[in-house]
Amino acid sequence: MIDGPINVLLIGGGGREHALALAISKSPKLGTLHATHTGNPGIAKLAKAVDVPVSHEELYRLAQYCDKHEIHLVVIGPEDPLAQGWADALRTNKNTGKDRLVFGPSLKGAMLEADKAYAKQVMRGASIPTAEGKTFKDAGFAIEYLRTRDEPYVVKATGLAKGKGVIVPETMEDAEAAIKSILRDGAFGEAGKEILLEERLKGTEVSVLALTDGSSLYVLPACQDHKRLMDGDKGPNTGGMGVFCPSGTIDETTMREVEREVLVPLLDALRRDEIEFHGVLYAGLMLTPGGAKVLEFNVRFGDPECQPLMARLESDALDMLCATADGSLEDVDIRFSDQAAVCVVLASEGYPDNPRTGDVISGLKAAEEVEGVTVYHAGTKVVNGKVVTNGGRVLGVTALGDTMEQARERAYRACDLIEFEGKQLRRDIALGVTANA
Ligand code: AMP
Ligand code: GLY
Repeated sequence: MIDGPINVLLIGGGGREHALALAISKSPKLGTLHATHTGNPGIAKLAKAVDVPVSHEELYRLAQYCDKHEIHLVVIGPEDPLAQGWADALRTNKNTGKDRLVFGPSLKGAMLEADKAYAKQVMRGASIPTAEGKTFKDAGFAIEYLRTRDEPYVVKATGLAKGKGVIVPETMEDAEAAIKSILRDGAFGEAGKEILLEERLKGTEVSVLALTDGSSLYVLPACQDHKRLMDGDKGPNTGGMGVFCPSGTIDETTMREVEREVLVPLLDALRRDEIEFHGVLYAGLMLTPGGAKVLEFNVRFGDPECQPLMARLESDALDMLCATADGSLEDVDIRFSDQAAVCVVLASEGYPDNPRTGDVISGLKAAEEVEGVTVYHAGTKVVNGKVVTNGGRVLGVTALGDTMEQARERAYRACDLIEFEGKQLRRDIALGVTANA
């Protein structure tokens, strides 16, 4: 562990990073929190703005910034910088020649999310239960294979396609059209140079997130995401419209099964391949009659899942992040409050296809005054002193409560106090969920 105040650099600018910033800023061990995305007014309130360009092309400037400002810990929120190897590039302090702590996997570790073909190969090698699948670069071969199956397979671009690269077709014709549009017409560019055709699994979808320091695991409380835009799981897929936590959808026995059959073998496989992994392993799973099967891996906190998790975190966030980064996860105290949390996403008009920006947001202060509520900024910015919408998912209104019902009531009361033109939200997040934390 680091002696003295810990200087942190936080990378990323969404609701997930605002939640991390707020949790980090509560730590008495914090020196200065620096952030790359202070265009997010939630983060701007808590962090010093990085004053060098932030881009992959000029990553050396961010590395120099870390050296100059004696950053001890870099926390990388989103998948893109991880997949581009930022964790590797920012690790070494060139002044001292020593390594600094980084929360977030190396480029090779990030490939678990950034390359679905690679993830599949790792799962096969480690006998991790997953949907049967096959990869193709040629549309003709892919279609030929599809025709040997009796039902349409799920079509996935293997690269990072901003959460849009998965198509679940209802008919063979739709599946063929998806294959052609990705491989022939380049619908997802580089991310779709290769596809994975995967058997369609039926069941209940859940996510299990765990922290890992490369050798041990800490399984986080289960969260239930809501990916479709509209109530009743209707409408298009989104990055996530709301989450409740803890989720009763996955019971303790299944949690242990996922840990034993998915997370532990995955960690062993990473170690065998000498892949540095300090961060979050996120398994997207389908609970099928034949047991839990992996749909995908992510290598970061989910967004919005991170928001209710950070709202419930009772122990020191910096201890948790540093221990994950430095390999001492087993020795650290991590505790979540026994309250329930509900996060409702307020999205802008046109989300997810064509989100409109620039609408003035009112009522933020009143919403934050509702008991137990934190309003995380996801896609907002300040223009002429006013907070306006600046992205698809605008705010994550997150409430704690003694029961799920209380958390839900508080979250929606706060949501109703916030107004902006074209506001979209689901009304059924945690509806009818009675589970106490
Ligand atoms: P992914 O990004 O791989 O998690 O896929 C996005 C969404 O597509 C998932 O959340 C599921 O709802 C759906 N999906 C992905 N793979 C499958 C599959 N093999 N069977 C059924 N649905 C799937
Ligand atoms: N909420 C789902 C994700 O972060 O991928």
